[in-house]
Amino acid sequence: MDISVAGTGYVGLVTGVCLASRGHKVTCVETDRQKLAALRAGEPPIFEPGLRALMAESAANLTFTDDYAGAYKNAEVIFISVGTPERGDGYANLKYVYDAAEQIAASAESGCTVVMKSTVPMGTCEKLEKFFACHAGENVRIDVASNPEFLSQGTAVRDFLNEQRLVFGVRSASAEKVLRAVYAGFTKPVIVTDPQTAEMIKYASNNFLALKISFINEIANICELVGADVDTVSYGMGLDKRIGEKFLRAGIGYGGSCFPKDTLALHWLAKYHDYELKTVKAAIEVNENQRIRLIKKLRKYHKSVEGLRVAVLGLTFKPGTDDLREAPSVMNINILLEEGAAVTVWDPVAVPRVKAMFGDQVGYADTIERAVEGTDACLVLTEWEEIKNFDLKKFKHLMKTPLILDGRNCFDLRAAAEAGITYDSIGRKRVTPAPDGSCA
Ligand SMILES: NC(=O)c1ccc[n+]([C@@H]2O[C@H](COP(=O)([O-])OP(=O)(O)OC[C@H]3O[C@@H](n4cnc5c(N)ncnc54)[C@H](O)[C@@H]3O)[C@@H](O)[C@H]2O)c1
Repeated sequence: MDISVAGTGYVGLVTGVCLASRGHKVTCVETDRQKLAALRAGEPPIFEPGLRALMAESAANLTFTDDYAGAYKNAEVIFISVGTPERGDGYANLKYVYDAAEQIAASAESGCTVVMKSTVPMGTCEKLEKFFACHAGENVRIDVASNPEFLSQGTAVRDFLNEQRLVFGVRSASAEKVLRAVYAGFTKPVIVTDPQTAEMIKYASNNFLALKISFINEIANICELVGADVDTVSYGMGLDKRIGEKFLRAGIGYGGSCFPKDTLALHWLAKYHDYELKTVKAAIEVNENQRIRLIKKLRKYHKSVEGLRVAVLGLTFKPGTDDLREAPSVMNINILLEEGAAVTVWDPVAVPRVKAMFGDQVGYADTIERAVEGTDACLVLTEWEEIKNFDLKKFKHLMKTPLILDGRNCFDLRAAAEAGITYDSIGRKRVTPAPDGSCA
């Protein structure tokens, strides 16, 4: 099929590349010139495992362009996968969706199906269908279908190709037929429903996962008060199939481009309908507090942060991605800088993006060893394998004061005790060196 994709971010590029790998002719439209230049040179502008190789393998079926008119003119299917960031009042900003819709309406010369991949509030697809009915060319019928995306950054290619379910929100048999043809060969359960329900499946899923994270984070905070171990609690809970082990790891809260904005958007939408979504409101509040948990811990060890040398290990909101949107690192670094700390950061992939954000306000280390050398404290914010495999004893030898505040529970408590460091993590016992300096 001739497919066009509006937007080549984490969702759009993965969608385009994966569909091209299944034999479709895919034209990806991107408005960002820098991203487009990289894509044309065969370089994915985002870090996503397996993406570069699949993009190279599927090159014969892939075109990258900013000529939206050419891309949409005769496309059979047009995916919209542009960003839907938070608007400022909590609601989803649909500017980019409507920009793409205007471009499609102005360009489509034959009937087509527009498929909404972006996460959009309930009712958006219906409104878009009306928009196209008014604004598309004469005799050009544009169907709109919702096909929310459930991939996770860091495993996006694998997730897309092995989705646990496909959701088709359609209002006509022809739109369903088109989506079935797009995904021919994908062997997953397909849920066919109306667009509003499809849109809600996406919001409800993300909100539930955010709730699960905030719940285990609150349990972790109580574990610290009562001397229980949250990792064992999670393990014990997760073995119960009704609960499941996923999204049950305590830490410094969720970040990224989805959960923060999707919880706010659903909360806003409920309020708009005069309904208070109390569970989601609580999840948002818990997360806000959790994100500064390590700073609060740091203040217990040092009355003032001013003048401290602090290492920050891991900057992305999760491992496997270079995405810094809503990453706890950004907020934590900002607080540290405001309070007068000298910050050195390390991350295996995100340094170029962090440099664009912080410039020379922070130091950049190319190894974990260099990042922690001579520091008074170290904050661990992403559970990269390189960090999890780091020899804890090196902290003691390299740091001025070996104080590790771990927001991702990367290390074993016994190993921390043997290393002779102060190790304070989330929802677990604090480890301190034995008073005589020997390893506890
Ligand atoms: N990132 C995820 O893990 C994920 C997962 C599931 C769903 N989603 C949803 O998918 C949507 C896209 O998310 P993302 O993370 O890929 O966003 P992104 O910001 O990484 O990518 C959006 C891209 O669209 C481009 N763009 C904007 N307007 C355009 C236009 N008119 N024509 C062509 N390109 C245009 C931007 O330049 C950008 O490259 C959002 O609604 C998000 O909530 C994201």
